[in-house]
Amino acid sequence: MSGLLEGKRLLVTGVITDQSIAFSVARLAQENGATVVLTGFGRLSLVERIAKRLPREAPVIELDVTNQEHLDGLADKVRAHVDGIDGVVHSIAFGPQSVLGGEFLNAKWDDVAKALQVSTYSYQALAVACLPLMQPGGSIVGLTFDATKAWPVYDWMGVAKAGLESTSRYLALHLGKQGIRSNLVSAGPLRTMAAKSIPGFEQFEDAWAERAPLGWDLQDKEPAARAICALLSDWFPATTGEVVHVDGGYHALGA
Ligand SMILES: NC(=O)c1ccc[n+]([C@@H]2O[C@H](COP(=O)([O-])OP(=O)(O)OC[C@H]3O[C@@H](n4cnc5c(N)ncnc54)[C@H](O)[C@@H]3O)[C@@H](O)[C@H]2O)c1
Repeated sequence: MSGLLEGKRLLVTGVITDQSIAFSVARLAQENGATVVLTGFGRLSLVERIAKRLPREAPVIELDVTNQEHLDGLADKVRAHVDGIDGVVHSIAFGPQSVLGGEFLNAKWDDVAKALQVSTYSYQALAVACLPLMQPGGSIVGLTFDATKAWPVYDWMGVAKAGLESTSRYLALHLGKQGIRSNLVSAGPLRTMAAKSIPGFEQFEDAWAERAPLGWDLQDKEPAARAICALLSDWFPATTGEVVHVDGGYHALGA
């Protein structure tokens, strides 16, 4: 097999169903020559079952990004499968119901803190955990939902994504000397488990359906996955701290 990611060893987080954006990334990466190792959170046997649906079954390592022991042990566990990592995909977010769906003014710190730990701080934590296995030319890619605007129902998740976008710029700053890039893909709304857990998510779906200049398919994760694979490849060698929009052009519009 040959392709854009020939010979690349990738660690891909965030697969929970075959609708996960991370699943499309893992599939496309394998189709383009990469070796993929997955991490799974919580329901490991489910993630292992999904991993069998990839073109080549990928090993699954348990990783709860709020568990420091998991983070500390990650590099050794990855080493059991590959001798280094060329790319890392952070496809992780979580917010308790109390911090989104219009609850911005009622949210309590403990719940907001959980959202920020899982969705924002974990980007740095995952990068640091993977660093011992990374070389110059390495690439870290995460997923955001345009945090330059306040959206209905997204609430504290929007704040978490604003923090994620900033975290990516700081990772770019601190890892640049080591030749490691950090970039985000800002995806339009996609039907996944995470999306379904946001009450009122259909408002985004309607807005994109009506307004995205290129149109927008809520089911199709491939455009986002392609951009992520491109950023993991050697074809963006001088790009870091960037947010690439894969949203049908929605972000470019005025009110
Ligand atoms: N679906 C969308 O509309 C959309 C749009 C833009 C960005 N995103 C982002 O894409 C990423 C992937 O989400 P998705 O839409 O594919 O949904 P998903 O539900 O398939 O994936 C979310 C993943 O986060 C993982 N996760 C949650 N808590 C974790 C923890 N403590 N440790 C490790 N993993 C944990 C879950 O296991 C799951 O695999 C998220 O960052 C999400 O915010 C999604």
